[in-house]
Order: sequence, then structure tokens, then C-alpha cells
Amino acid sequence: MNSINLTTKLGALTLKNPVVTASGTFGFGLEYAQLFDIGMLGGVVVKGLTLNPRPGNPPPRIVETPAGLLNAIGLENPGLESFLRDTLPCLKEYNVPVIVNISGNTIDEYAAMAAGLNESGVQAVEVNISCPNVKQGGMVFGTSPEQAAQVTAAVRANTALPLIVKLSPNVTDIVTIAQGVAAAGADAISLINTLLGMAIDVQRKRPALGNVFGGLSGPAVKPVALRMVWQVSQAVELPIIGMGGIASSQDALEFILAGASAVSVGTGNFINPKLTVEIIEGLAEYCREEGINDISDLIGAAWRRQ
Ligand SMILES: Cc1cc2nc3c(=O)[nH]c(=O)nc-3n(C[C@H](O)[C@H](O)[C@H](O)COP(=O)(O)O)c2cc1C
Repeated sequence: MNSINLTTKLGALTLKNPVVTASGTFGFGLEYAQLFDIGMLGGVVVKGLTLNPRPGNPPPRIVETPAGLLNAIGLENPGLESFLRDTLPCLKEYNVPVIVNISGNTIDEYAAMAAGLNESGVQAVEVNISCPNVKQGGMVFGTSPEQAAQVTAAVRANTALPLIVKLSPNVTDIVTIAQGVAAAGADAISLINTLLGMAIDVQRKRPALGNVFGGLSGPAVKPVALRMVWQVSQAVELPIIGMGGIASSQDALEFILAGASAVSVGTGNFINPKLTVEIIEGLAEYCREEGINDISDLIGAAWRRQ
């Protein structure tokens, strides 16, 4: 059987296949390494990190909805230094590209984190300007084209690593934001982060989440995510990592056909921890059935054929 080329490029970063993990849904990868060989993945995008450790938001922090999840974790994490010292050396054992997701309260914090990753041996930085669950920073940067561009430029000035900027769907015009970060030096764009939502606990007669609002993810958000990938891929030259509700190889293919060069699996990991591997197999199977030798032929094929 002839082998199918699943490799994909995100700027200077080449992945052996287009399937990566969505930040915050795969821990630091080590938990899942007990279940399968994470070296099979295109890459591991780690849990969001900040310069200093964060305790996160008060509970409850997760609520199930009919077709997804509302979370308000609030970027609980051990901080960059602890990750570099204690976790990264273990993760490096697995021969998988490591992409570090960073957040900051200020532009200077983003810049400092980018600088701190330079000599660490990670393969790329994903800049989260889209977290809806924190008071300062996060989504504030991702909903203003100017501030999104400023954060991107500050990170760019401090790193030569491939720079991926993760956008928020909580905006009126995703294309303007994408164009802003592209002009400021991003190498790739990932979208989408979660959609701002809420739920009410009728027994307690209170908001179900301690933080009142949370981020909606899972199958419910897929149509919104696909629409944004479609729009951005036609307007901006950069490669895109598409995510939002991917729960099967079929879903992943939709994102690739809409213009994504890679896909990220998030909430789906909670339902099936081996979903990423099944999607990689499903993509190869589809290519085999369709007589496609190189998966990159599928990127944006749905709009190129219009
Ligand atoms: C529990 C949870 C924690 C998350 N934490 C982060 C994070 O730290 N940084 C980030 O950029 N995105 C974070 N996200 C967003 C996901 O990476 C992803 O963009 C979003 O959930 C949409 O994909 P999905 O529908 O496949 O989950 C988190 C999502 C969930 C559900």
C-alpha cells in the first residue's frame, strides 16, 4: 500500500500529521501518555501557561450543556518556570513537537514569556489572546484589532520560534483581527477559542459557574468555528489550526476542506481520550479511499472549488 503524506506546515514548523491537541484539554500531555503513544500526534499544545502560577477561578468551573461544555477554569497553571523545570524535560522524552500556549495580564508579560521559551527547546509558541475566563488580559487583547496586533508584535520581537496566535470568536469581525495579527508578524493563526456563555442552576437559583460566565466548547460551537476558518483562510495568507467541536475524522476533514492546515482536538478528548489517534487514522483512511496522496491537497478545497 502506498503511504499517504499527512505532513503539514505551519510556517517553519512541519508536523508529521495535522492533528494536535487543544490547549487546556490535554494537560501537559503526560497524563495521556499513559494511554497511548503521544509521539504519534502532530503536536502537543500544552495547558495555558502564565508567567506566575495561577490558582484559577472559584468552583464550580465546568458545566455540561446539551452539546458541549462551559468552562471557567481561569487559567489555573503552575507558571512558566515550573513548567520549564519540572514538566518539559519529561514531555521531551516523547518525541512529539511541543507547542506552548501562553497568556498574560499585560503585553510585557506576553513578551517575557516568549523570551523565556527561546532556549527551552519547544517547537512553537501559541499566544492565547482569547481566554474568556480571566478578568485582566486574555480576551481583552483578542477582541481589539489594535491590541491583538500589539501583543503579536511584542511576542514577535522576543522570539524566533514559530508564532501562532489564537483568536477569540467573541468578535463581530474575525477577519479584521486575523489581518491585524498577520501584519504584526504571526506565522499561523489558531481559531477558535471558546464562545462566551452561561448556565443557571435552577435548584440553587444561581449561575451554575462560580465565575458566572464561561467558555462554550464542543459540538455546539463547530458551525461557528468552521465559518470563521472559512472566512479567515480566504482573507489571510497564513496557515490555520482549526478547532471547535471536532469529535471525529469527519469533523476534522470539514475544517481542512474549509481551509485549515491543521486541526486541534479539545473537548472531544474528555469523551474519548484516544480521539486524536483515531482522527489521524481516519484522515489517512479518507485519503486512501479518495485516492489522495498528499493531505495538503485538501486544504481549502471546499472554497477553491466554488
Ligand atoms: C477545560 C478547558 C480549558 C481550556 N483552557 C485553555 C487554555 O488554557 N488556553 C487556550 O488557549 N484555550 C483553552 N481552552 C480552549 C480550547 O483549547 C479550544 O480552543 C476550545 O475548547 C474549542 O475547541 P473544542 O470545542 O474542541 O474544545 C480550554 C477549553 C476547555 C474546554
